[in-house]
Amino acid sequence: MIRASPTLLILLLATGCTKPAKKEVAAVSVDAAGASAEHFAFPSHRCGECHGDIESSWRPSAHARAVTTPLFTKMRDAAGHGADCDGCHAPLRAKIPADDPAAADGVGCDSCHLMTDMTPRREGKGFTLRVDDTTRYGPLCDAQNHYFHKMGCSPGHAQSKQCASCHLLYGAGAIPLFTEYEEWERSRYASSHECQDCHMASRQAALAVGAKGTRRLARHDFALDEMSGDAIKVTLGVETQGDELAAVVTMLNEGAGHSVPTGLPEHRLVLAVSRSDASGANVQRWERVYGRVLVDGDGKPAPFYRAARVESDTRIGVDESRVERFTFPKGKSGRIDVSLTWLRVPQAMARELGVPEDSRSLASGGQSFDSARLPKPLRLRTEPEKAIRVNATADGGAPH
Ligand code: HEC
Ligand code: HEC
Ligand code: HEC
Ligand code: HEC
Ligand code: HEC
Repeated sequence: MIRASPTLLILLLATGCTKPAKKEVAAVSVDAAGASAEHFAFPSHRCGECHGDIESSWRPSAHARAVTTPLFTKMRDAAGHGADCDGCHAPLRAKIPADDPAAADGVGCDSCHLMTDMTPRREGKGFTLRVDDTTRYGPLCDAQNHYFHKMGCSPGHAQSKQCASCHLLYGAGAIPLFTEYEEWERSRYASSHECQDCHMASRQAALAVGAKGTRRLARHDFALDEMSGDAIKVTLGVETQGDELAAVVTMLNEGAGHSVPTGLPEHRLVLAVSRSDASGANVQRWERVYGRVLVDGDGKPAPFYRAARVESDTRIGVDESRVERFTFPKGKSGRIDVSLTWLRVPQAMARELGVPEDSRSLASGGQSFDSARLPKPLRLRTEPEKAIRVNATADGGAPH
């Protein structure tokens, strides 16, 4: 692969010619097959040279790993039509040679900032990538053109439709797959919170090397680890139910602008409840699983890319409160423990695909009871550091 020298590129752009001859300034690359392409897309580390703060925020995000997680590569192979997957997981691949460094970035800076015409569509990929120009599109409309790139005022970058251009997809037979945008659109948040308002909350920082002072900048890690504890309010009470006692667990989706879980249809929530007696011996354990079960034409559970229809959907919708009761004989006293855990894919599927299990804790805790004096309902929380998180990267290690 031959690439125009970056220094030459900067020098040529620095001379101030606004309409440089494309051949000289574009990142020209030639792929293994000999096909050449000229374009202005860059790998994210180049953007980081001036936007270092934003790059270090983006680097540990799911977007940066979008084509490297074992789960993605395994599913992409199994699906057998990988180019369709790349349309959202590595959007630049359709525009520039596959071995160009910018194409290896997954959802990198230029996947989102060369983006125009953002339109939510159920066929997915509702956007255009303008690799033929130096303009970077973003929400700021007062930014001054710079020698490295021009500024494209794009208010749509602060709106949910930017996310929806990838976070909305229906499969063959109009089966809903990625539905977070439509869930949001139907919720009360559609009139008060864009996706960015929850996922890209801003903080004060320098916009770029050379930009004057600091301003409010959107965080680019999409904040999931920190937000998990806010999604579902879990409370645990113990009540008398006839001759028995019942552990009553209430789960209220008070913090997410869409169902929980959402995104990949394979995501699951597992509620585990156990009762122990006064001696601490574990006497009973229950588990309930929430999610979407997709099945193939024969009604057998199938991954989303082979699914024909949605068999069931037990996710917790926006503002929905789910009450679960678990009954047991009245003992003298004991303890109830509860955990609510998010799973990336069901355990059986992780084993079948040979990928590490990945989970995070949304809430956990418990309370002791005495059947003569039952305790008040208690809110259970998860300390962020208690969140169990196995970040699935290509080498199996943690990227943080
Ligand atoms: C040589 C320095 C430099 C590099 C490299 C650079 N930028 Fe910038 N960028 C700037 C400066 C400076 C500003 C802000 C100008 C101002 O404040 O008026 C900016 C602003 C932006 C904006 C805001 C535009 C808007 O209208 O909202 C975006 C988006 C952006 N850059 C994306 C990128 C991307 C993507 C890359 C990598 C392809 C990149 N930048 C590389 C210097 C750079
Ligand atoms: C160019 C396509 C694209 C755009 C635009 C996009 N995303 Fe994503 N997003 C993805 C892909 C692909 C993944 C899955 C990455 C992976 O493999 O884990 C993802 C993952 C995520 C995750 C992490 C999910 C998880 O399970 O860890 C969050 C949160 C997220 N996106 C939010 C957003 C928000 C908010 C926006 C809009 C500001 C947005 N995304 C815009 C493609 C996109
Ligand atoms: C998944 C899409 C996505 C990716 C990937 C992404 N950005 Fe952004 N970026 C956005 C959105 C959306 C906004 C606007 C956020 C807002 O205003 O609420 C934004 C805002 C910006 C801004 C304007 C200042 C600000 O914070 O509002 C700059 C500069 C920027 N991004 C640079 C980058 C760089 C550099 C990278 C790569 C390291 C990058 N972005 C990766 C979606 C993305
Ligand atoms: C009111 C705040 C809020 C809004 C608005 C919001 N989200 Fe979320 N989102 C959350 C919280 C909280 C979580 C964490 C839930 C969890 O840990 O599973 C989350 C999780 C996610 C996930 C991970 C999926 C999963 O199963 O964990 C994705 C993807 C996502 N959001 C995308 C979006 C997109 C796209 C939009 C806009 C259409 C959006 N979100 C709007 C709060 C919000
Ligand atoms: C319309 C855009 C789009 C297309 C096409 C697409 N995806 Fe995704 N994919 C997403 C988004 C957005 C997410 C983030 C949702 C989440 O993780 O909660 C995602 C998440 C995933 C994840 C979960 C990542 C993780 O580690 O949790 C896997 C695996 C995945 N996609 C595989 C595929 C495969 C395989 C294909 C092709 C058969 C494909 N995707 C096609 C948009 C798309």
